Amino acid sequence: MYELIKKDGLAKRGRLHTVHGVIETPVFMNVGTAAAIKGAVATSDLQEIKTQVELSNTYHLHVRPGDEVVKKLGGLHKFMNWDKPILTDSGGFQVFSLAGLRRIKEEGVYFNSHIDGRKIFMGPEESMQIQSNLASTIAMAFDECPSSVADRDYMEKSVARTTRWLVRCKKEMERLNALPDTINKHQMLFGINQGGVYEDIRIKHADEISKLDLDGYAVGGLAVGESHEEMYRILDAVVPHLPDNKPTYLMGVGTPANILEAVDRGVDFFDCVYPSRNGRHGHVYTNHGKLNLFNARFELDARPIEEGCQCPACRNYSRAYIRHLLKAKEMLGMRLCVLHNLYFYNTMMEEIRDAIDHDCYKEYKTQKIAAVTGKNE
Ligand code: GUN
Ligand code: ZN
Repeated sequence: MYELIKKDGLAKRGRLHTVHGVIETPVFMNVGTAAAIKGAVATSDLQEIKTQVELSNTYHLHVRPGDEVVKKLGGLHKFMNWDKPILTDSGGFQVFSLAGLRRIKEEGVYFNSHIDGRKIFMGPEESMQIQSNLASTIAMAFDECPSSVADRDYMEKSVARTTRWLVRCKKEMERLNALPDTINKHQMLFGINQGGVYEDIRIKHADEISKLDLDGYAVGGLAVGESHEEMYRILDAVVPHLPDNKPTYLMGVGTPANILEAVDRGVDFFDCVYPSRNGRHGHVYTNHGKLNLFNARFELDARPIEEGCQCPACRNYSRAYIRHLLKAKEMLGMRLCVLHNLYFYNTMMEEIRDAIDHDCYKEYKTQKIAAVTGKNE
């Protein structure tokens, strides 16, 4: 159940009550595609870096180790020893971005595994069954994420099919949640809006799926190559057509500035690989811009990544030491950078919630965008 606590302009401050506890929104979900945050981050670390929700992928876990295996071991929460909320993406997007040859039909998608090439079929029912076996807190609808350059005609047909798939997802989720041996009988389902850069297709789709009374609504198919301005234009158009008494999730986004702009347009859930991926490459976020710790100017820099940061990296280690670890290819170097970056994102979300609570979101947004994009010292 989503509780809209207050609004500051279009920015929403909310709370999603789940069987695995409360999610304070706006929130950034920390990406652990194959049930692990890349960079050797353990679930015990997540407690220290203010993670509220972990995100995993249906497709990856279905291919390896197999959702039946995870179910036999008691579900994803038990498997990875994480008792807070988990959101699983449906496999739709991953099939389109990873699988080689694929055939899209009314019943679903035929494709080859990116691990061993074996033939797999996934449709709305299969995706729900896999997510039910994984027993995540929130399941995502099985959708098609069409290419950003798809023409109008293709987009209209694709979106209509995604709507039919959504109706099947909802029906299957209701059936699974009522089965006696289902691990999480309160699994939530979020629908996904598509339509590429065509505002009218997006709006029509948003109006249709809003009628289905789902637990939340995502905007998919963005951050796939269009400009930031174009993404903001789509959000301006579509978010007002999604129910504001339900959470709104912008999938796969983004930079701190993207998140700050999207919150200002009413979005309250985010996920992105940037903080973990950048961290693995020694790129760290600060309130004076991004730093590349491989840079020679940090060789003798005894300061933490960011003065005052309470993350496990900054509380204990210097830029010079972390730079040395990265250059020596010690795993600890990556790990510390990822922990700092996730802590930076999670702390920014905390600041966002605080600013909305205090009716100063616009001022906060302007100041924070200047800080994160600023030139570092
Ligand atoms: N992750 C990023 N974009 C998308 C999308 O359009 N659909 C799904 N299922 N996942 C995504
Ligand atoms: Zn830090």
